[in-house]
Amino acid sequence: MKILYNGDFIEKKDAHVDIEDRGYQFGDGVYEVIRVYNGTLFTLKEHTERLFKSAKEIGIHLQGTVLDMEEKLQQLVAHNQLTDGGVYIQVTRGVAPRKHQYSDSLTPQITAYTFQVKKPVQEQEAGAKAILSEDLRWLRCDIKSLNLLYNIMEKQKASEAGAFEAILVRDGFVTEGTSSNVYAVIDGVIRTHPANNLILNGITRRKLLEVCEEEGCTVEETRISKEELLRAQEIFISSTTAEVIPIVEIDGEPVGEGVPGKLTKRVQVGFQQKINHESEASISS
Ligand code: PDD
Repeated sequence: MKILYNGDFIEKKDAHVDIEDRGYQFGDGVYEVIRVYNGTLFTLKEHTERLFKSAKEIGIHLQGTVLDMEEKLQQLVAHNQLTDGGVYIQVTRGVAPRKHQYSDSLTPQITAYTFQVKKPVQEQEAGAKAILSEDLRWLRCDIKSLNLLYNIMEKQKASEAGAFEAILVRDGFVTEGTSSNVYAVIDGVIRTHPANNLILNGITRRKLLEVCEEEGCTVEETRISKEELLRAQEIFISSTTAEVIPIVEIDGEPVGEGVPGKLTKRVQVGFQQKINHESEASISS
């Protein structure tokens, strides 16, 4: 299996991480997860642009263009003959003796590898459980930072409670999940948190907003209070790897009828059509 290692394709076993890499020591870096369908990197441009944006926000200056990076990732997928799976790409600030402040002369370390994805079909069809957690993360959740400590703590809590996701609530309002965006259908309107500093503006989220528009569903990017969430007719979450998953139970209480809702299913179908359309289009081009 080949990995992308600072511009070169090398065998995974030949790669190493320097113990003074700031990503390793401080979590000083950013990342992306991209889905591959039919040998095609889905929404590659959006993910690559977000990677560059995240890097820029924390003062990492990447050499090369978004297009160069896209080409490298496509080559990686081709090298590994991946038809269905994912790509993880990570950028760290570089290697230096450990101190908090850094010099601008560091060389960012860029690595990427492909992986298998187990499509969560069971959850997508039957729905999944969630728990509610307090959102105690920092206030720049729009940056896809390697620092995921609080996200993993709460995801672990969800997992130990037999749930798929922890839905985070800050100051009484739902922000997002530990690794997903959250939507609720309230009085027939699909609502989700506005794309500001309190959430990661998911690429799947952006696609779903397009789907909703095309399907003629009413969508509002407005905050959902915890009380509204608990009386929602439908709830679903989205992410690159989860795609669209209905949430049918929160903290042991059923959501709506306790089964995936009609609007959620429409969004799922519309999203699948987008995937099919994009992966078929790029194969024939
Ligand atoms: N997580 N919010 C958070 C906090 C996330 O970590 C993610 C994705 C999303 C959804 O973003 P997107 O639709 O672009 O995947 C929202 C990835 C999949 C992960 O960390 O594995």
